[in-house]
Amino acid sequence: MATKIHVIANQKGGEGKTTISVNLAAITHSVLTDSNSPLEKQQDQSAGHSPVMVASTDPQASSVWWANRVGERGGLPFDFTQVDRPSDLEKLRGLGYEHIFVDTPGSLENAHILRASLDQCDDVVIPMQPAALSYEPTRLTINKVIKPLDLSYRVVVNNWDPRDGTVDLQQTAQYIAKQGWPACKTVVRRYKIHTRASAEGQVVTQYPRNRVAAEAREDFLLLALELGYGGTRSTAKEA
Ligand SMILES: Nc1ncnc2c1ncn2[C@@H]1O[C@H](COP(=O)(O)OP(=O)(O)OP(=O)(O)O)[C@@H](O)[C@H]1O
Ligand SMILES: [Mg+2]
Repeated sequence: MATKIHVIANQKGGEGKTTISVNLAAITHSVLTDSNSPLEKQQDQSAGHSPVMVASTDPQASSVWWANRVGERGGLPFDFTQVDRPSDLEKLRGLGYEHIFVDTPGSLENAHILRASLDQCDDVVIPMQPAALSYEPTRLTINKVIKPLDLSYRVVVNNWDPRDGTVDLQQTAQYIAKQGWPACKTVVRRYKIHTRASAEGQVVTQYPRNRVAAEAREDFLLLALELGYGGTRSTAKEA
C-alpha cells in the first residue's frame, strides 16, 4: 500500500490549515476503520496503529501546545507527530500510513518548511476564507509556490458563515474561477463548535451527538469524500 501525502497549505495565517488537516484526518480515519460489522471492528482494533497521521511542520509553539492539550483529553483517533526538521519529512513515507496530512506554517518566513513539505506530497489542499483579504495571499501561494512545482492542488473555501449571506461566497467563487484554480464543491461552514473544539484539542469525530455537531461534521465528511480520501470502500464508484 502506497502512502498518500496531502499537504495543507496557505501562506496566509488563519485560513484554516490546522482545522482542515486534523478534521480531514479524523474523518479519513473514521471512514477507513469504522464499520457496522463487529467482525471488522475487531480486526481494526487488533491491526495496530491508525492508517492516518497528521504531521505538523508549524514551528509555532501553538501546535505543540495543541498536541499537549489533546494528550490531556485522552488523545486523537489518528496519530500525530510534530516534525521539527524539514529533512525528517522524507521519512514519513516509510512509516506504513495510508494517508498523511501535513499541516504547514502560515507565514512567509517559513516558506522553506512549506517547500520541503511540498517536495514529499501527492496533492495539496489550499483552504481559503471567503473574504477579499484572503485573495492576494492565496494567489501568491498558488502562483509562486504551488504552480511552479506542477503539483495537483485544490482550493477549499473554509469558514463561511451562512448568516452572512452568499455575496462574499459568490464573489470568492468568481475570483477562484477567474484564476482558473480547481476548487472543491464542498464549502466548510463556520461553526462555533469548530473554534471551540480546536482550542480544546478535539476533532469532528469526537463531537457530541447533536444536530449542530452533525451538520458541522458533515462538511468534513463531504470534503474527504470529494477529495477521494475515503479509500476504496467509499470511492469505488467514483474511481
Ligand atoms: N470552519 C470553521 N469554523 C469555525 N472556526 C474555524 C473554522 N476554520 C477555522 N476556524 C478557526 O479559525 C482560527 C484559525 O484557524 P486555523 O488555526 O485552522 O488556521 P491556520 O491556517 O492553521 O492558521 P495558522 O496559519 O496561524 O497556523 C482558529 O481559531 C480556528 O478554530
Ligand atoms: Mg495552523
